[in-house]
Amino acid sequence: MDAIGWSDSLLVGHKKIDADHKRLLETINRLTHAAENGHDKTDCDKEFDSLIALAWEHFALEESLMQAHQDPNASQHTREHAKLIDELIILKAHYDSGEMAIPDNLQEALHKWLTNHIHACDKPLADAIRTSSNTAKTLQSLGQTSRLFGKPGGDGGKG
Ligand SMILES: [Fe+2]
Ligand SMILES: [Fe+2]
Repeated sequence: MDAIGWSDSLLVGHKKIDADHKRLLETINRLTHAAENGHDKTDCDKEFDSLIALAWEHFALEESLMQAHQDPNASQHTREHAKLIDELIILKAHYDSGEMAIPDNLQEALHKWLTNHIHACDKPLADAIRTSSNTAKTLQSLGQTSRLFGKPGGDGGKG
C-alpha cells in the first residue's frame, strides 16, 4: 500500500501544530511501511513506540496552548487526547497479538485516528489561538494608544 501523503486540507494554520501533525503522519507511514515489508518486529515496535511518544508530546503541547489561550473547548479536547492515546495502546495490543490484518487496516485505522481529530478538535483550537492572539494584540495597541494620549486625569495636573 502506498504511503498516505500530506494534504494541505489538514493544515490548521499554527506552525508548530502543523509540523507535529506532519511528523505524526510520517511516523504512521514509516510504521505501516515497515509492517508491510515484513521488517523485523523490533522495527515495527520501534515505530509504534515513536508514534505513541510523539503523540504524548504533541498532545501536551496542544494542552499547554489551550491553557495559555483559555480555549473554551479545552476540557473536551483534553478528554479526546486521552481517548486517542487509549486507542493507540489498544491498536498496538491488537498488533502485538497478531489479531489485526497488517498493513491495510493498520494504516487506515491510524490515518483516520489522526485526521478525524485534526478536523474535529485541532482546527477549532487553532481558531481559538488566533482569536486570543488577536484580542491580545488589540488590547496591547489600545494600551499604547492610551499611553500616547495620556489617561484622563493622568499627567494633566503636572508641571
Ligand atoms: Fe488535539
Ligand atoms: Fe493535534
